[in-house]
Amino acid sequence: MELRDRVVVVTGAANGIGRAMARRFAEEGARAVVVADVDGDGAARVTAEITEAGGTALAVACDVSVEADVEHAVERAEDECGPIDLFCSNAGIGVGGGVDAPDEDWNRIWQVNLMAHVYAARAVLPGMLARGEGYLLQTASAAGLLTNVGAAPYSVTKHAAVALAEWLAVTHGDAGIKVSCLCPQGVRTNMLMAGRDRREGSVVLAAAPALEPEDVAGSVVEGLRAERFLILPHPEVAEYFRRKADDYDRWLAGMRRLQARVAGATGAARTPEG
Ligand SMILES: NC(=O)c1ccc[n+]([C@@H]2O[C@H](COP(=O)([O-])OP(=O)(O)OC[C@H]3O[C@@H](n4cnc5c(N)ncnc54)[C@H](O)[C@@H]3O)[C@@H](O)[C@H]2O)c1
Repeated sequence: MELRDRVVVVTGAANGIGRAMARRFAEEGARAVVVADVDGDGAARVTAEITEAGGTALAVACDVSVEADVEHAVERAEDECGPIDLFCSNAGIGVGGGVDAPDEDWNRIWQVNLMAHVYAARAVLPGMLARGEGYLLQTASAAGLLTNVGAAPYSVTKHAAVALAEWLAVTHGDAGIKVSCLCPQGVRTNMLMAGRDRREGSVVLAAAPALEPEDVAGSVVEGLRAERFLILPHPEVAEYFRRKADDYDRWLAGMRRLQARVAGATGAARTPEG
């Protein structure tokens, strides 16, 4: 898909990867970019950045974990900008810890990192299917293909996001619906920096040198152009994923070595071995 003349919604677009995608899509000539975020002031700021640069953007305050908010964002986008060509379900949060993390943390991250994608697909698919075309992009993570040492809720919900993207691609691909799943490792955003400050297991994410959000936006534009399912701004993730599929037990042993190093380490995490 080319972005020119498209109506695009990006959630979590007040900061980080979402902001970089929204700005880049506008530069690519999108007809309108809907900047949706729970941080309404932040969404308005990014909208102003886009319009000042000559693009067209609309800010919508939206908590993606609340289905009515997602429905409202879609309605506003379609009323003010026209049918949505591309919906980027990108907002996400990080929660560290293991199975002992409190239920309220598990429930919160499940809502934001998984159910938000379900709500988005529910809201836009009927129109896209009726038109016989549409594009869904879900931001998961390399942690959704591999795992994230020290962060069970994050790893599990990102695996679920990858599974949902796969399911949507399989189920609706022949009806004209394109799906891409964005799976970066570390990206220099508030999320990564907050995880590092808390030292809470952003290990797979932090294993590779962190990219800038603008680099990720560039990979997304290229991946959308190629209509590729898996968009990997860190290409080495494909090799880790291949090694995992090739010999799961060997991969688990390598991840346990990584976990042991991290548990005993005072310094930075190292690249996982497969
Ligand atoms: N930064 C990384 O290293 C990294 C790596 C892999 C995947 N990701 C994923 O990329 C996506 C974007 O993360 P980021 O690094 O840009 O984070 P970020 O914290 O910089 O930005 C996330 C944005 O999402 C918004 N948001 C959070 N909860 C929301 C909600 N309930 N409703 C609407 N908006 C909400 C925040 O207000 C913020 O503007 C996430 O899904 C994250 O899991 C990030």
